[in-house]
Amino acid sequence: MNDTRDYAARLARLVAVLAVAVSGGCNEAGESEDHRGTGQVAPTDSDRSEIGRLEQRIARLESIAPGQGALMGQLGYHFGNLWFALDYENWPLAGFYLHECRETLEQAVRVRPARTLSTGGELNLQGIAEALDNTQFAELARAIEAKGKARAVAVYQDTMIVCYSCHQAAEMSFLRMQLPDKPPSPSISFDLALNDDR
Ligand code: HEC
Repeated sequence: MNDTRDYAARLARLVAVLAVAVSGGCNEAGESEDHRGTGQVAPTDSDRSEIGRLEQRIARLESIAPGQGALMGQLGYHFGNLWFALDYENWPLAGFYLHECRETLEQAVRVRPARTLSTGGELNLQGIAEALDNTQFAELARAIEAKGKARAVAVYQDTMIVCYSCHQAAEMSFLRMQLPDKPPSPSISFDLALNDDR
């Protein structure tokens, strides 16, 4: 058997074994005969150790993936810098930070799309984030494109209200928004006059 066919056969077998494991049918050694005639593939010892290795890898990846809180902190950072980019009317920089905000919010709700509330209800974080992206963030993009400071500042403040209403809905009304008094980034210049390609 050539290498590719061998690999494909091993992969197909592993997928079949994993499907059994996922559906709760992962059984102890010695029970493999039970699967005869059911169309299911009984795991061999080497399948079991491969599943064990994959489980360890998934656990390790989950442990190092940034959580929703860390991503929200990053969103706060980009959103704070955006305020200064707008204030300085540095449109390319504002466009950049808005893009980072949109991406970070999208990632934050991908990590955790819903939240169970103390009432037992589910809060659809993804739905709220999509609405914010389609409304305030889309409008901010238009204001930045048109280099309209007054409009951009007004929409930025509307956005703060939406950010906070999601925090309230998530039972974290202590996460109240405020306008920053200095840029979160100490090392980025907000001065458009210094941009080489302005
Ligand atoms: C879809 C709901 C939702 C929206 C919209 C939202 N947030 Fe959050 N935010 C959360 C949740 C949930 C947390 C708490 C995460 C956790 O479990 O730590 C949070 C936490 C935060 C934190 C605290 C993070 C920390 O660890 O210090 C900041 C800062 C933050 N959000 C900024 C923003 C900003 C800025 C916006 C708007 C541009 C925004 N959020 C919009 C849901 C949202």
